[in-house]
Amino acid sequence: GNYEGSLRPQVHFSPPVGFMNDPNGMFLDENGTYHLYYQYNPSENVAGNQHWGHATSQDLYTWTNQQIALFPGGPDEGIFSGSIVVDSNNTSGFFPNQTNGVVALYTLNTPDRQVQDLAYSVDGGYTFTKYDNNPIIGSNTNQFRDPKVIWYEPTQLWVMVVAYPVDFEVGFFTSPDLREWTAVSNFTRFGVTGWQYECPNFVEVRVENSTETRWVMLVSINPGAPLGGSTSWYTIGSFNGTHFEPDDSTIQLTDIAKDNYAGQFFYGLGADQDQITLAWASNWQYTNVVPTAGNEIGDGFRSAMTVPRGHFLRDVPRKGLTLLNYPWNIHSIVDTELALNNSFQNGSVVLDYSDVESRAIYFEANITGLASSDILAGTLNFTFTSSVSGEFVRGGFSIAPDNNLWLDRGNTNGFDNPYFSDKFSGTALYNEDGDGEFRISGIVDRSIIELFVNEGEVSGTSVFFPTEPLDIMSLSVKGLNEAASASVGVWALKAAW
Ligand code: FRU
Repeated sequence: GNYEGSLRPQVHFSPPVGFMNDPNGMFLDENGTYHLYYQYNPSENVAGNQHWGHATSQDLYTWTNQQIALFPGGPDEGIFSGSIVVDSNNTSGFFPNQTNGVVALYTLNTPDRQVQDLAYSVDGGYTFTKYDNNPIIGSNTNQFRDPKVIWYEPTQLWVMVVAYPVDFEVGFFTSPDLREWTAVSNFTRFGVTGWQYECPNFVEVRVENSTETRWVMLVSINPGAPLGGSTSWYTIGSFNGTHFEPDDSTIQLTDIAKDNYAGQFFYGLGADQDQITLAWASNWQYTNVVPTAGNEIGDGFRSAMTVPRGHFLRDVPRKGLTLLNYPWNIHSIVDTELALNNSFQNGSVVLDYSDVESRAIYFEANITGLASSDILAGTLNFTFTSSVSGEFVRGGFSIAPDNNLWLDRGNTNGFDNPYFSDKFSGTALYNEDGDGEFRISGIVDRSIIELFVNEGEVSGTSVFFPTEPLDIMSLSVKGLNEAASASVGVWALKAAW
């Protein structure tokens, strides 16, 4: 693959050539290597012909492409989305002499049926053998897919969540050995249904400042998202080994924009630490026609993943428990400091970063002391512009009137499509009862932008397609009272490819 092109993200995973969608089977191996598999069409730049592509990383930013891990058995088959577990106790019997056995559980798609299949790997996830007795869960329908499996310690059983998409239902199954599965409960017609449920995830997540953990159900819906096309939501509750009981009837969307779908949690990270996801940074409404594939500005591929996102639960005033969504360990790929000012006040900075080879930038700003005035105000806005064409993306966060994070990708000219909405906004409530401070951070990487307020209490993910590279950043702070101040940092990111 050519990773040089002007639309090729430099700190995000994208496939060498061809079309990518959902992340699949993510796990951390015993050597500290992260594995990412993904829905992959290696032969065309549009969805279809689904394989599991594979890449590995030590830091989740710097990736090594590996051989394709799972191939369809014929032209009518697709290896659809699914997950991986490490069977360290050899519950499956596939691994008599090892503790690093890897088992993939995925959907086999055929024209009239979707069934759940298994493949195992004795070499740590690089090559797989399909199980002789597939399917492990059969069906008579073509709407039954995307198994995500976890180990549930209290019952010593594997637990699978899997979607019945058009019934708006998540099925729970359990198994002692990954081969024989028993249906134990269903979670049905909850939240925003859209037209289909896809890629359910179920994970135990720590609560900030406590020893407690809670269970998070993440569901992706497509089409029919509130903003059009695909989106994901989550709800929080408890689990007894067979049934998930949501705390209340509320859901929250994972993103304020349109390019964050089918996120998957890494297997087996342990509930005492932050959980990690990667998500597909695209939308089914326009993913097959975005201009990265090979016209004038194209680079021979379609789709990137989000940066790795870290997650924990925070009790946000008024909003309640919220799944935070922050760029995991981003400082590990930070390179040259382009600006750093710890006592910034109202004003602006302009930075020319045309000599930063990656053209990938990370910034963060921390505004404090706002509550010392009766009038709570404070705005941080930024713009990334091309010095050649004048195209730009911009966004910001404003306390007044109602704590909005916003994002505007409408001033780039490389893609025109009726579903490719320009502007997004979302509200963060954290500040309301707080001490008058907010934090905003962002990553801009050639054709993708990700924004985070207060460790990702709200976040926004958007792809955008300029005809010329963006190379000038400006950032401005407005409305601060005298006692308030901003600390602002901007860094170049290390090209990972
Ligand atoms: C979600 C999805 C999954 C399916 C896969 C096929 O984006 O539709 O439900 O398994 O993509 O590539």
